[in-house]
Amino acid sequence: MPNRPSRIAALCLLLICALFTTACGTNGKPPESIASERTILVGFSQLGAESGWRVGNTRDVIAAAERAGVRLMYLNAEQAQENQIKAIRSFIAYQVDVITLAPIVEEGWDTVLREAKDAGIPVLLTDRAISVEDENLFAGFLGSDFLEEGRRAGRFLLEKTKDAPLVRIVEISGTINSTPMKQRAIGFREILDGDPRYEIITSVSGDFLRSKGKECMENILKETIDIDVLYSHNDAMTLGAIEAIEAVGLRPGEDIIIITVDGEQGAIDLLKEGRINCVVECTPLIGDMAMELVKKLAAGEPIPRVTYSRERAFTEFDDDLDALPARGY
Ligand code: AHR
Repeated sequence: MPNRPSRIAALCLLLICALFTTACGTNGKPPESIASERTILVGFSQLGAESGWRVGNTRDVIAAAERAGVRLMYLNAEQAQENQIKAIRSFIAYQVDVITLAPIVEEGWDTVLREAKDAGIPVLLTDRAISVEDENLFAGFLGSDFLEEGRRAGRFLLEKTKDAPLVRIVEISGTINSTPMKQRAIGFREILDGDPRYEIITSVSGDFLRSKGKECMENILKETIDIDVLYSHNDAMTLGAIEAIEAVGLRPGEDIIIITVDGEQGAIDLLKEGRINCVVECTPLIGDMAMELVKKLAAGEPIPRVTYSRERAFTEFDDDLDALPARGY
């Protein structure tokens, strides 16, 4: 029999589920077929709502759960790891079948994931990876190959600047100690390292937020306007940085080469206008794949350790930009 606090936690979760997800409904099925199937219950700890990408990811996972007939408990951690840890503990108390975790940073998960493992609940990492002593604390990872995203950004820059004598780069990176922040930086440098023409003159974190992207760029522009390239780790920060660039009378896409990551509709539109030069895709639309993996885990079946989304880069050299379907985020 659960004690009083955990019953209260369970009731709160039920309420949250009813309020925030449409995935708790009957999915159009008659009640008798619901009764005969065992509905899978999933706890989804989302790290926040910092960008259009993140909001699109949450929406996609909730919609995919509904399509798959999976009952989803969604908790938004509002950018705080401690809230994610609390969410996981609530899911354990509620005895969900599977936990999906989009972790804000890589470190600090050992204890709580050990608790999930001891409770027999498999954990699927979505979007970002973690670093734990025992790799068996999670069942698998589903998301983007961030290292390759960084390499795509670097390869575009090599092509774009093949005749340039010197290339001065500003990097605005994402949340410190998050996987995309680390890997996008490493992949980018991997491509440019060894070519002395490329100099990263400054690298600062904009925490994946539009407001901070703008603030970072304003500060950098106060120091120097002798900048050839902005490499920004997400579209939200890029949109903010572009505001700052235009405010000092420079033309993004012409005076400063703009390379961004994500592929939100707003960034693709700016690429078509010539105000962004390269958009490295990072898709948040992983909900259906997540539900497939969740169903396997709930059935006790193995899943791959790593499942990457299929992605590409969109650049000013492409001749099919006008034919691109709406991005959906
Ligand atoms: O982890 C994926 C990153 O997180 C996306 O690039 C970014 O927009 C989001 O905030």
